[in-house]
Amino acid sequence: MAQLLLTVLGLVQLDARLAYAKISNCRCLSTDSCWPSQQDFAILQTQLSQPFITPIPPAAACYPPDAPLGNCTDVQQNWFDPAWSADHPGQMQAPNWETFIFSNGTIEQCLKNATLGFPCGQGSVPVLGVDARTPEDIQAAINFSVQHNLRVVVKNTGHDFLGRSMARGAFMLWTHNMKNISYHDTFTPTGALGTSNATLKHILTIGAGVQWHEAYDASYAQDRDIVGAPTAKGSVGSAGGWIGGGGHSVLAPTFGLGADNAVQFTIVTSTGEHLTANNHQHSDLFWALRGGGGGTYGIVTSVSYQTHPAELYVRASFSATVNTTNTTAPSAPLKALFTEFVRITPFLSDNGWAGYPQLTLASPTNEQTFSFVLLNTHSWTDANATIDPFFDYARSLAATTSSVQGGDQFTVVNAGTVAPQLFRDFERQVVRPGESETGVNIEVASRLLPRKLLEDDYVKVADTLLAQSPAVSYIMVAGGAVAKVDPDSAGINPAWREALVHVATGQTWVDGTPLTEIVAAKERVKAYTLALENLAPGSGSYFNEASLYCTDPKQTFFGSHYEKLLDIKKTYDPHDLFIVAEGVGSEEWDASLNCRV
Ligand SMILES: Cc1cc2nc3c(=O)[nH]c(=O)nc-3n(C[C@H](O)[C@H](O)[C@H](O)COP(=O)(O)OP(=O)(O)OC[C@H]3O[C@@H](n4cnc5c(N)ncnc54)[C@H](O)[C@@H]3O)c2cc1C
Ligand SMILES: *[C@@H]1O[C@H](CO)[C@@H](O)[C@H](O)[C@H]1NC(C)=O
Ligand SMILES: *[C@@H]1O[C@H](CO)[C@@H](O)[C@H](O)[C@H]1NC(C)=O
Ligand SMILES: *[C@@H]1O[C@H](CO)[C@@H](O)[C@H](O)[C@H]1NC(C)=O
Ligand SMILES: *[C@@H]1O[C@H](CO)[C@@H](O)[C@H](O)[C@H]1NC(C)=O
Ligand SMILES: *[C@@H]1O[C@H](CO)[C@@H](O)[C@H](O)[C@H]1NC(C)=O
Ligand SMILES: *[C@@H]1O[C@H](CO)[C@@H](O)[C@H](O)[C@H]1NC(C)=O
Ligand SMILES: *[C@@H]1O[C@H](CO)[C@@H](O)[C@H](O)[C@H]1NC(C)=O
Ligand SMILES: *[C@@H]1O[C@H](CO)[C@@H](O)[C@H](O)[C@H]1NC(C)=O
Ligand SMILES: *[C@@H]1O[C@H](CO)[C@@H](O)[C@H](O)[C@H]1NC(C)=O
Repeated sequence: MAQLLLTVLGLVQLDARLAYAKISNCRCLSTDSCWPSQQDFAILQTQLSQPFITPIPPAAACYPPDAPLGNCTDVQQNWFDPAWSADHPGQMQAPNWETFIFSNGTIEQCLKNATLGFPCGQGSVPVLGVDARTPEDIQAAINFSVQHNLRVVVKNTGHDFLGRSMARGAFMLWTHNMKNISYHDTFTPTGALGTSNATLKHILTIGAGVQWHEAYDASYAQDRDIVGAPTAKGSVGSAGGWIGGGGHSVLAPTFGLGADNAVQFTIVTSTGEHLTANNHQHSDLFWALRGGGGGTYGIVTSVSYQTHPAELYVRASFSATVNTTNTTAPSAPLKALFTEFVRITPFLSDNGWAGYPQLTLASPTNEQTFSFVLLNTHSWTDANATIDPFFDYARSLAATTSSVQGGDQFTVVNAGTVAPQLFRDFERQVVRPGESETGVNIEVASRLLPRKLLEDDYVKVADTLLAQSPAVSYIMVAGGAVAKVDPDSAGINPAWREALVHVATGQTWVDGTPLTEIVAAKERVKAYTLALENLAPGSGSYFNEASLYCTDPKQTFFGSHYEKLLDIKKTYDPHDLFIVAEGVGSEEWDASLNCRV
């Protein structure tokens, strides 16, 4: 271990480092002389259950003479596998967050394709971290970080779309291996003893590192469903950023958001205490942890969720495509089709439909498509009755616009429902084996679209979204049960309660793209952000799937809950240890989040 630390740290020690740390307005980084000494780290090591980890960008394995750091074939074969990615502390699901851009324009990065000719560098990946397995590991690491004024990042799966689980020079607390899961037929929240009506039923308690595929399987084993993130490989964390930001799901319109289903958290705060927060004790913290932003109040060590009876769901699938030669604008039938879908969105929501429509306006094959997978708990007959009119509309559009402009062909590829099935069969058989959405450089822009906006001006909504090339996710995960909850019952952005749809778009770029083009892509994300803000002024955006370029992050992500959340943050994080991009309290820090402004 000492050998390892020597190589990793290799830094000058200064006797005055502690004094420096105390007077500085800035965090102490691994590149600074105030970084703790090997002896300091050796003392911390004695308090930890595992050896320190030394995260590296996994692609380093492809750069001789560093090849002993890993297996390049393995890296290249698994690059797009989100589960593999989550297993590597130095990897982000969107690898652009592993890079670091210096003010002189140099990009420090480590690309999976070494032959592109860029040297491999550490970028924004912290050089040292703790492989936390217990709350005690986290307490020790936090106490140490406060004492030495370190910049801390909490990393779970690395799915964060704003790069919040990485920071150059930081000390990483890696929660991925906290995998405990337990199911409770009856569950008495801590502090509720003696409150006769407080006992809860069918609760699943999961550790900080549990991912959705694991939480789903534990829930299915009890013939129960749980509100989670159904994604390829089920790799999103179920107790980290997802619940911290509020957690959306195709089941949310039936059972509420993640924030509405969490009944208890355990958490280590920056004072080193391990607290239990629920409706009976630390209820203010409990309120904030349900949607008030991940990585802001402390390090969550477990979450307990309400589970639900397994129900049958009708699934509707649809796909229509135009093989256009002209992708500078949406082709006419696609525009008509999408506008109709936006028009009927409130009707579909009221009739129990939820899910994941997608508009693709520019593709390598010049195809423009609108497609969706939606679920509904109604009977098959009733579900058909509310979706069939849209299918009929699409088919009639195809019949009347068989040849649009210059040989373009509008085709309904697929439109229909299948017999009701258990959510678990849909999730395990359709979603989990699906195509990965990770491994590419991406930045996102998004907005919550209020029901009222869709009712009042669906044409404007459709036109605005059709202008956000190359693709728009029109995610129908609000309305229904989400809208019935008291907006002030949890810290999550009250805009969720008014919304029916969470729309997201963005830009991707390939490895090796020059900085000028990356900057241009970011400018387009900024333009999308502004266009979506203008479309739905006064609404908000989802903290977890959003851009860094909002005009007013406090209002956008937290609305009227901001001041209360800030008070709670100040109470439980008196050391301001937990600062993340756009998070509560982050406005007191500079863009690097390393120095107070
Ligand atoms: C492919 C993909 C699919 C997605 N699907 C959905 C979806 O269906 N629904 C949805 O709502 N969102 C979805 N998301 C967004 C997802 O909710 C966020 O990326 C979320 O931040 C992931 O949390 P994590 O803990 O897995 O990731 P990480 O990147 O490891 O962490 C995210 C943030 O949470 C903090 N954090 C992590 N663990 C803890 C902890 N124990 N205590 C305190 N803070 C912690 C981190 O510091 C960071 O700020 C998706 C993202 C991707 C990339
Ligand atoms: C490297 O990874 C590949 C793909 O996972 C595997 O087939 C191979 O055996 C690995 N090589 C070594 C030396 O571990
Ligand atoms: C830019 O700055 C970084 C960090 O100081 C340095 O390593 C790099 O060489 C510089 N690049 C150029 C082109 O000056
Ligand atoms: C790496 O990039 C080169 C040059 O663009 C390309 O020819 C090669 O196929 C790429 N290799 C991999 C593994 O992606
Ligand atoms: C995980 O569960 C095991 C077995 O129940 C228990 O011994 C251990 O303390 C738990 N670990 C944590 C971190 O809760
Ligand atoms: C961390 O600090 C807290 C509060 O002072 C204390 O209770 C705990 O024992 C400390 N833990 C370690 C491992 O230092
Ligand atoms: C549950 O008990 C608490 C405290 O005794 C009481 O305030 C509350 O009204 C009760 N709730 C219900 C639904 O009975
Ligand atoms: C592509 O479509 C746009 C908008 O309809 C139109 O202005 C433009 O002339 C078209 N380009 C070609 C090459 O047809
Ligand atoms: C679209 O598909 C039709 C039918 O296959 C074909 O005739 C037409 O040439 C295609 N148009 C374009 C622009 O590729
Ligand atoms: C519902 O519609 C599908 C086609 O979309 C059809 O196969 C099925 O028979 C219909 N079910 C009922 C109960 O009408």
